[in-house]
Amino acid sequence: MPGDVVTMDKIVSLCKRRGFIFPASEIYGGIANTYDYGHYGVLLKQNVVGEWWRSMIQDRDDVVALDSAIIQHPKTWEASGHLAGFTDPLVDCRTCKQRFRADHLAELECGRRPSKHPGEDAQCDLTDPRDFNLMFETSIGPVKEGGTTVFLRPETAQGIFLDFKQVLQFARRKPPFGIAQVGKSFRNEITARNFIFRTLEFEQMEMEFFVPPDQARHWYEHWMAERLDWYTRLGIDAVGLRLRAHDAVELSHYSSATSDVEYRFPFGWSELEGIANRGDFDLRQHAQHSGEKLEFVDPQGGERYVPHVIEPAAGVGRSLLAFMCDAYDEDELGGERRTVLRLHPALAPVKVAVLPLLRKDGHPELAREVYASLRRHVKAEYDDGGAIGRRYRRQDEIGTPFAVTVDHQSLEDRTVTLRDRDTLAQERVAIDGLARVLQERLAVQ
Ligand code: GAP
Repeated sequence: MPGDVVTMDKIVSLCKRRGFIFPASEIYGGIANTYDYGHYGVLLKQNVVGEWWRSMIQDRDDVVALDSAIIQHPKTWEASGHLAGFTDPLVDCRTCKQRFRADHLAELECGRRPSKHPGEDAQCDLTDPRDFNLMFETSIGPVKEGGTTVFLRPETAQGIFLDFKQVLQFARRKPPFGIAQVGKSFRNEITARNFIFRTLEFEQMEMEFFVPPDQARHWYEHWMAERLDWYTRLGIDAVGLRLRAHDAVELSHYSSATSDVEYRFPFGWSELEGIANRGDFDLRQHAQHSGEKLEFVDPQGGERYVPHVIEPAAGVGRSLLAFMCDAYDEDELGGERRTVLRLHPALAPVKVAVLPLLRKDGHPELAREVYASLRRHVKAEYDDGGAIGRRYRRQDEIGTPFAVTVDHQSLEDRTVTLRDRDTLAQERVAIDGLARVLQERLAVQ
């Protein structure tokens, strides 16, 4: 099983080596918990987000899309409870001058003696825990002084609640229906650990599903099953996934029930996504703070109620990391160790690589022609740099499901070899039917 060989060090190094993901601002020494996505990282991320949209919008007809602003009216965060309660307990060490999450001390390293946890060494001098708000503050207006203090959104969800009335009207919906949104959120996380698992800025894929109050339990169950299924459909082995219900202490202020989809990362079971029954908390809070009625009124029967909300809230980076960890594998090929990302074809950044066997004798010309015809149908890449074995290895590490090689025979009979990343089987296929063969294989996997 791929999970046997994967470690975080291997994932981080593969991401850097192949330009998927690397530390941001590296020429200035980097910036904590902040990463940039390179070419293949962008393509993989787009595919993760694309599959999420597909599951929300294309595969069903009760969810509509939204893209709300990152900076909302500051009252938003008063109403949502984030201003008062979106905090982490932090402690400072007066000796090493570092700051730690008070609830993570047992997993963190002492600032002076990394073999110990903060507070364990005789020299450690920790303050009492204090609550720090995780929201980033900025101001709008021509000058900082006298400007209005605003916040970068810590979750995309609130924009959805603010627009509930608009969508109800313009999308002509009635509960049960959902509003889905993908976008960046920002949190002042101070714990640097586990690569992109917890970052200062991150993309969320959130959907608020508005339901008649007596249907809340049913839809909570529905979305838990649906979301778990999404990960397995896209290739994650079910043994590495579980649903974990929050106990009363863990529940957020808005939630009456929450379950996390957890993945068994190399560093242990951790949250990929939360599915929460938010009840009518958010709509009531925003109604109270804005003075607007945020309710559903049935135009036929006149029935009126504040819908309850079921929210599946996933992180793009965390999902991507889980897909990569689960796809990571090593095997032996011709006496050499091969690293391969066995990504689901829908997620693979590149679907097919086109490789001329030689950089002469007409191979590049025909390979370019094949590449030009394939790229109209699938995401293809042309690669003529280095020995053929190295080019295969490179595509295996990127997770490209198929490689097409143009050789001497191709010039004679217009066939190419088609290599399968996982089985390593090679077969000859006519150039004329190649796009169709590829599309069929990519669709069924
Ligand atoms: N609207 C509900 C909400 O935001 P959350 O559990 O705080 O709930 C949802 O966040 C998801 O967003 C998490 O399951 C995780 O995948 C992702 N996420 C949250 N904070 C993150 C961070 N600092 N870095 C990366 N992903 C994060």
